[in-house]
Parts: sequence; C-alpha cells; structure tokens
Amino acid sequence: MSGSTYYVTTPIYYVNDVPHIGHAYTSLACDVLARFMRLDGRDVHFLTGTDEHGQKIEKAAAAAGMAPQAFTDKVSQSFRDLLGVMDYSPDSFIRTTEKRHYAACQALWEKLVAAGDIYLGAYAGWYSVRDETYFVEGETEVGQDGKRRATSTGAEVEWVEEPSYFFRLSAWADRLLEFYEKNARFIGPESRRNEILSFVRGGLQDLSVSRTSFSWGVPVPGDPKHIMYVWLDALTNYITECGYPDTKNPLWKYWPADLHMVGKDIIRFHCVFWPAFLMAAGVAPPKRVFAHGWWTNEGQKISKSLGNVINPVDLVKTYGVDAVRYFLLREVPFGNDGDFQRKALVGRMNGDLANAYGNLCQRVLSIVAKNCGEKVPPKGALTGADAALLDRAKGLLTVVRTELDDQAFHKALTAIWEVIADANRYVDAQAPWALAKTDPGRRDTVLWVLAETIRRVTLPVQPFMPDAAAKILDQLAVAPADRAFTGFDKELVSGTPLPKPQGVFPRYVEPKVAE
Ligand code: ME8
Ligand code: MG
Repeated sequence: MSGSTYYVTTPIYYVNDVPHIGHAYTSLACDVLARFMRLDGRDVHFLTGTDEHGQKIEKAAAAAGMAPQAFTDKVSQSFRDLLGVMDYSPDSFIRTTEKRHYAACQALWEKLVAAGDIYLGAYAGWYSVRDETYFVEGETEVGQDGKRRATSTGAEVEWVEEPSYFFRLSAWADRLLEFYEKNARFIGPESRRNEILSFVRGGLQDLSVSRTSFSWGVPVPGDPKHIMYVWLDALTNYITECGYPDTKNPLWKYWPADLHMVGKDIIRFHCVFWPAFLMAAGVAPPKRVFAHGWWTNEGQKISKSLGNVINPVDLVKTYGVDAVRYFLLREVPFGNDGDFQRKALVGRMNGDLANAYGNLCQRVLSIVAKNCGEKVPPKGALTGADAALLDRAKGLLTVVRTELDDQAFHKALTAIWEVIADANRYVDAQAPWALAKTDPGRRDTVLWVLAETIRRVTLPVQPFMPDAAAKILDQLAVAPADRAFTGFDKELVSGTPLPKPQGVFPRYVEPKVAE
C-alpha cells in the first residue's frame, strides 16, 4: 500500500455560523487518518473547506446585514482559523464560491443532462432551510405552536412551489442497491449501511435539483434563473478539488476518494444522491463513506437556542489541543453518539495521559538521565519478561493500522494504552531503581527495554497527539526521518545522547472558583 494514494475529505461546513465541537470532531477524525497514512508512506490528499451557497447562507448573511460574499468570506475564515487551533493538516481548503467550483458544478450538470437524467418540472412540497432538504408531508408534523417541522430533524419547514429541474433519482434505486451489494465497505458503520439499504429498498423519488426563488448559488447552464440545489453544488466539491472535468489534472489521481467522513445526519446525501449523480455522469463513486455519531453536552442536545454550543477554541485554551484530540476519539466508540462531559475529559487527562503515559515517560526518562549519563542505556541479554513487553509493543503498528482501516479510533487508542499499562506494570515488577546497587547492568537493560517500548508506543500516537508525541520522540532523540513508520523497527541505539527530560502531560487542576 505504501506509495498508493489516499484521499480523505471532511464535509464542507456551512458558513451560517462559526465552528463548534461537531465540526471539530469530523475534521479531527480525518486529520488522524491523514497523518497516519502519511507516516505509513501513502500519497495523501486531505481536503476540507466551506459550503457557502443556498438559502440558509443567504438568510444568515441578510441577518448579519452583509452581502453574501462578504459574509461567507468572514465566516469561512473562522473555519480556516480552526485548522491551526486543532492542529489539523489539510492539503487543501476549498470554498464553493471559487470559480473552479462553479466550472465543475456546471460541467457535472451538463453531463447529467446529456445522460438524460435531468428534466424540467415544478416542485410543490415542503422545504427545510436549516437542513437544506425537501420533505414529503408524511415526514413532517405540526407542533403545538402551529408550526410544521421535519420529524427527523425538528427543523421548521416551509411550503415551496416553483419551477424546478429534477434528477431522475427514481431510476437509480436498483443500480444503487447493486452498487452497495458489490461494495460491502461503501458505508460504515454497519448500522448506517442497513439504514441506507432499507431507505433505498423503499423506493426513491426524483429529486428537485434547482431553485428559482432566490439567487445565491451556481446558475444552471443555459437557464440562469435556476440555481443549483445546494447539495448538488456542495457534494461536487470533492471532485472540483481533483480538477473535474479535467481528468488530466494532476490531482485527478486521487479520485475516487478513499473516504468521505460525515456525520450521521448527512449520510443520505453522501450514500444515495452522490453515488447516483456520479454514476449518471460516468464518474466512479467514492470508495467509502463513514458516518460518525453526534455529541450532546452534559446530557443535553447541543443547540444555539439552548446556548450550550461547545466552542473548540475555548476547549483547547482550557485543556490543551492534545488532550482535546485524545478525549474526543477515545471517549466514545467511533460511530456511536456520545455525551461530552468535562469531568470525563479531566478524568482522561489525569488518568490516561498524566498518570499512565506521562508518568511512564517521566519516571523512565528521569532515571535514565540520572543514572545512564544522559544517554540511551546499554542493552544486555533479554529476559522473558523483557521480550514479552517488547513483542507487545512491536505488534502495535499492525493493530492500529487495522483498526484505523475501519475508523475504529477508540480501539486503536485502547490497544496503545494496553501496552502503556503493561509497561507500567513492568516498571513496578522490575523496579529498576532498586537494581542500581545490586545489578547496574540489569538496570540498564530494563531501562533500555522501557525506552524502546515508549518509542514504539509513541510512533502510532503521533497522528492523535502530534505535539505531545513529538516532544516524547525528541526526548528519545529519535531522528525526524525515523518517525515515519518505516522507522518503526529501528531500535534505539545504546549510547545515543539524550536531551534533558521534561513532563509532557500536565495534570489538570480545576481552577478555584471564588465563592
Ligand atoms: O451538513 N456532534 O454542514 P454543517 C457531532 N454543509 N457532529 C456534529 C454535531 C454534533 N453535535 N453537529 C454537527 C453540512 N455535526 C453540509 C455538508 S458536505 C458536501 C456538505 C457535524 O456545517 C455533522 O454531523 O451542518 C456534519 O458532519 C458536520 O458537522 C456538518 O456540518
Ligand atoms: Mg448541519
């Protein structure tokens, strides 16, 4: 697999509002995969960006008293700023208001027309601006306040009646089912796959793909009073990036994408509409779509009206970027919903990070610094216990690779922390401090085994906590070139000078609140 391309995408985020924890979460998962694959020798392209058209954005701009373009410029920047805050490493940031994107959308549209999959009609039905989604009446209900809302999302819907182009989605159900059948890994996790299968088996209706009652979007070629449905526009970003329709563009080698990471709320767009559009246009669908779950905040649904939106910038200020990254991917089995509890975050910071990993590094490296002349200690004959610990550490990379192939971030981290726990038990059992007088040679070997185990553990930690891992690898004097996974089997060399050790994972102490 080394050298092969790996294209991973985040959803492009609506710029109606500044980023929150949900956005940070989706991008974090992609970032860990992108970093892992780079270290694993893959030719990675990691794309993120912003979704800037449609009625929702037009309304948000009007509410802010700004022209749509000026408004989207401003909010899009706040998503760009988050990249640095969260330590994300995208190769590119796309905006749907870019010229190249208009060209790609219009080219795709023309392909769909040429294929006979688009026809002119009229839409009459319900529309949710918040979800940018059409609903049939049976998917809505009227609340006690007399307002009609989408049952699945709770968003208000409005009646829309206007001329519209339609995509012949109804004709694609069988071909989609065949595609899912042949590509068992197309949708993850399994529960989402089943959800999509039963939705498509229930039959598909043609999809309205243009609007005429507002103007903030990509004009339909040859009929510019229609603008493209924002989801057709938005999904196209993934191929705009690769140069579509110019398949000679050097970035076209990345298509089809290896993974579109999405939240569970937008799986239908990615697993039903998107492959149908692409197949109709003669373009290969992506290889996989994975839908993660949703966070609640201390048991409550996160919403602007409840005022409990979690701002990732504040979280990083309080807890540090590595702890936030670790917590989000460790706390909840990826794919499930999860509840964000500060108590749990602090628990993991002080438990998994400070006590387990941090303490292991700290005690080993400080004994080495004090007793081994600030050098990697000499390595003598290995005992069974030494070999057992080293073997577990050696096996880690394969385990992490396998888990990340399934987007099982929590399992990858669990496997790493099991070896950390083994290493801590080994320190206690071997008690190197007690060997100083009785058997310094044995003490050195024990310390070598531990330092080497820390190195093996830390290499696969890099994609999750890039800063902390770099600091630990610095303290082990691991050369930058040996931090890629080709260096995984390059053991520490006795006698290599080591820098002064320093703590990497501070304990979090709750600030005293004045009474
Ligand atoms: O849907 N927990 O953009 P978006 C976890 N523009 N994830 C959450 C979340 C929560 N509480 N709230 C939101 C769009 N998300 C479209 C995408 S792609 C071609 C177009 C996640 O700004 C959500 O699940 O509404 C999704 O992955 C992402 O934020 C999208 O945010
Ligand atoms: Mg949303």
